[in-house]
Parts: sequence; structure tokens; C-alpha cells
Amino acid sequence: DWRMDSFVVESIEKIREKVGDGKVLCALSGGVDSSVAAVMLSKAVGSQLTCVFVDHGLLRKNEGNEVEEVFGPNGPYDLNFIRVNAQERFYGKLAGVTEPEQKRKIIGEEFIRVFEEEAKKIGKVDFLVQGTIYPDVVESGVGGESEVIKSHHNVGGLPDYVDFKEIIEPLRDLFKDEVRRAGLELGIPENLVFRQPFPGPGLGIRIIGEVNADRVKIVQDADAIYREEIANSGISADLGQYFAALTNMQSVGVMGDERTYDYAIALRAVNTVDFMTAEASEIPWEVLHKVTSRIINEVDHVNRVLYDLTSKPPGTIEFE
Ligand code: XMP
Repeated sequence: DWRMDSFVVESIEKIREKVGDGKVLCALSGGVDSSVAAVMLSKAVGSQLTCVFVDHGLLRKNEGNEVEEVFGPNGPYDLNFIRVNAQERFYGKLAGVTEPEQKRKIIGEEFIRVFEEEAKKIGKVDFLVQGTIYPDVVESGVGGESEVIKSHHNVGGLPDYVDFKEIIEPLRDLFKDEVRRAGLELGIPENLVFRQPFPGPGLGIRIIGEVNADRVKIVQDADAIYREEIANSGISADLGQYFAALTNMQSVGVMGDERTYDYAIALRAVNTVDFMTAEASEIPWEVLHKVTSRIINEVDHVNRVLYDLTSKPPGTIEFE
């Protein structure tokens, strides 16, 4: 891919020139975008880069450890990786909050606060790296006239990072598929590059209504089963994004001889080219069936599983 090849080479060159001998700080989420941005920066400026990974307690099951394995000191990259375990802090701020935009705002603001505290520990930083990509820019209405559809927590409204000279957004002009191609150019392993996207606010926007540790656990466990069965079925490469969400609906069921009154999990899977539009995927019936019975049998407080058939538009991919 010669065009992506030259994009990557030129970007690294430009970054190196811009940064000089400055210090660079990167917020690494473990997602495709920030991972590609971080590796690009590390190729450009090496040990001048420090990457901070904030575990906000809204990640998929076991994801924090997986991110640490790849990007931490025992992994293949040299990113000066710092993990911050801020789960309790985020749950505290989110207690009792149900309004979607308010949840996004709280998660975004708390993220910045935690990050800022880490930055202060590191000392003077000259540049801040963000894995913003083009669709983020468009949908957040940043730099455009479009109305804000959802506030993306990794775009715009940037912080009073008093000490930063400048923001570096090496992926700002790229669509998702281009980010993945850039990742491959950079030698990032395919399983990472083709990992499905995960939103900055994480499970916070896949839990309708209040976010708390118990509800996070429900959606994490359901989602892990869903992903495991999709992987087993061999259809994952055909899907753009798929995940479980916790609805705020409780309904009546029966388990053995007992009446239950528990939550409904919604399963979502979409086919999409650029995440601006999407269609519900046709997941084989037997896969959905297996996932459903496993979730109901294995995840406490769930007695119903629904499959979301909504396209984007008019739906969005996430639930909030
Ligand atoms: P929606 O729900 O807007 O999602 O149709 C489109 C794509 O964007 C991801 N998404 C986010 N990514 N920060 C992110 O980094 C966010 O706040 C955010 N909200 C949605 C979503 O997962 C999907 O891939």
C-alpha cells in the first residue's frame, strides 16, 4: 500500500521535526486509534514518549490486563507505559447519573483529570498525542457547522492542559480503514489492528441508566460470552463491531419453578464501512441461540436477551 506507506513515513518525519527534543505524552486506551497513534509516536521520538493508560473500570472483561500485556514493559513496544487504576473514582462520579450526555461528560472530564494528575507526576510535557480520527471530528461537530450528535470524549474541549504546548493528532484525516492500514504499515500485529473499535466512554454508554460496579460486571460477562461464541463460530471477520449492552429494562421470566424479574441484555452486531452508517449483521440463528442460553445460564440478573436490528441511521451503533 504505497499511499499509506508514504503517509506513515511522512507523518513520522513531520512529528519528529515538530517535537524536536520535546517530551510527548499520550493517552493510550488500547483501542486501534490510540494504539496506532502511540506506536507512530514511538517510532518518531522513541523514549521522549510516555503513554498513560487510564483504566476507568468501563473496559471489557479482562481488557485492562490485556492492554498491559501488549503495551506494558513486557510487550514488544517501548512506550514508557503507565497504568492508572481509577475504577473506583469513576464509579463514584457516575453514581446516580442516568442521562447519556451527562454520563459521557463525567467520564470525559474525569478522564482528563486523572490524566492531568499523571502528567504532573511526569513533569514538564511539551506535546499531547490524541488518536482522534476523521469520523470523530465530523460527528462531534468540531470545526464544522454540524450539530453535536454525541460528545466524543476524545475530541474537542481540550483541557486547560496548562503545560502543553501543542496537541498532536496524527490520524485526524483518516477513516477507520485507513487507520488500520497505517497500523499494518507500522508493523502492529493484525489481531490488534483488526480489533473492533471500542468507545472512549467504554461500557458507560453500553449500560443504559446508572453505571455501577454490579451493572458493569453484568455487561462484561454477557459481552465476554458473546465475543467468545462469535470467535468460535468463525464469523468475526465479517462483522464491523459487535457487543452486548445492558438495557435498563427488567422483565418477568421463569427459572425452574421460580419467577424472576431481571434485566434484558441487548446484543448488537453491525456491518459497516466507516462507522458513519451501519446495518445490523445477519448472525446465524444457532449462534444467537447459543449466546442467549449461555448468557441466561451464566450471568446473574439476566433473564432475557434481545437482538438489535436497527440500522444507523436512524439508530447509532452504541446505545447512548
Ligand atoms: P455511534 O454510536 O455514534 O458510534 O454510531 C460510531 C462509532 O464510534 C464509536 N464511538 C466512540 N468512540 N469515543 C470514541 O472513541 C466516543 O465517545 C464514542 N462514541 C461512539 C462507536 O463505538 C462506533 O464505533
